[in-house]
Amino acid sequence: MVGVDIDSPALAGRRPRRMRTTPVMRRLVAEARLGVDDLVAPLFVREGIEAPWPIESLPGVVQHTRDSLRAEAVALAELGVPGLILFGVPERKDATGSGAWDPDGIVQLAIADLKAEVGDSMVVMADLCLDEYTDHGHCGVVDQAGRVDNDATVDLYRRVASAQAAAGVDVVAPSGMMDGQVRAIREALDGDGATDVAILAYSAKYASAFYGPFRDAVDVTIADGGDRRGYQQDPANAREAAEEIRLDIAEGADMVMVKPALTYLDVIARVRDQVDVPLAAYQVSGEYAALHAAAERGWLDLNAAALEQLLAIRRAGADFILTYFARRVAELFAQR
Ligand code: PBG
Repeated sequence: MVGVDIDSPALAGRRPRRMRTTPVMRRLVAEARLGVDDLVAPLFVREGIEAPWPIESLPGVVQHTRDSLRAEAVALAELGVPGLILFGVPERKDATGSGAWDPDGIVQLAIADLKAEVGDSMVVMADLCLDEYTDHGHCGVVDQAGRVDNDATVDLYRRVASAQAAAGVDVVAPSGMMDGQVRAIREALDGDGATDVAILAYSAKYASAFYGPFRDAVDVTIADGGDRRGYQQDPANAREAAEEIRLDIAEGADMVMVKPALTYLDVIARVRDQVDVPLAAYQVSGEYAALHAAAERGWLDLNAAALEQLLAIRRAGADFILTYFARRVAELFAQR
């Protein structure tokens, strides 16, 4: 008979279940932990609306007004969530995405609001990209051949970095996957004297099907059917992610990110082994929406499934997680 003789001398009486006997024993021997300190809340703020606007494909997430954004940030700060990341939805979009660096653009105003409101208790981050602001939905300027022009785009990112820094942001998070973007942004920030503004680079960002609901959240429809494979990474490649991360650190990234999280746990683990800067992972809109959809049908327990996924992302090696579950999970922890 094939089987393990647990009384064999070779195993010397090993019985791993002893380590699972009681909740407190399991707590003691846990290898990974998830706590409120590990969470960053992504928040959307929209120009020109009178009341918060629900996002259908992201249950529980809204496009905020400036006022409701402030209130949400206060609630998160009171729960102990240490960070938030802002995405702006402008009233008007154009070919270059000029709303992204307008000093009176929605994100600049929101950054200033939040620094005044919760600036001492939360790290205020801003996504640094153009796709929420361009009328074609791409992350940069598009050339005559329909390709995103890398260097012209990076020049615009400098302006966005300067505008966000002037508004008081703590961390800028470039998400456009242009080559050289981190170096250019660091130069722009330092040139403005904003040497304390940190860069969280979306270094390994995959061309993923899991960003679907986000596009509703920022009212983006991408020209040519939504194809970002010319600049975001191929899901087949993990070594390439390590290379992107090394480049970004060499260019001045203070923290790096892998995105999405669940389908790229191997990438998170590999990167964790290779670099010592803080490592973030983004549990993206589609990962959040999928759990909600299944839970709505009664097919999954939402809280248990969310906590398991977030813990897995921590176990893989992420120091902190950008997640739409931030408030929900913080509330759960507050009840314990
Ligand atoms: C780009 C950006 C995107 C997300 C974060 N920053 C969209 C994209 O690259 O297509 C997606 C986040 C999510 O799906 O939750 N500004």
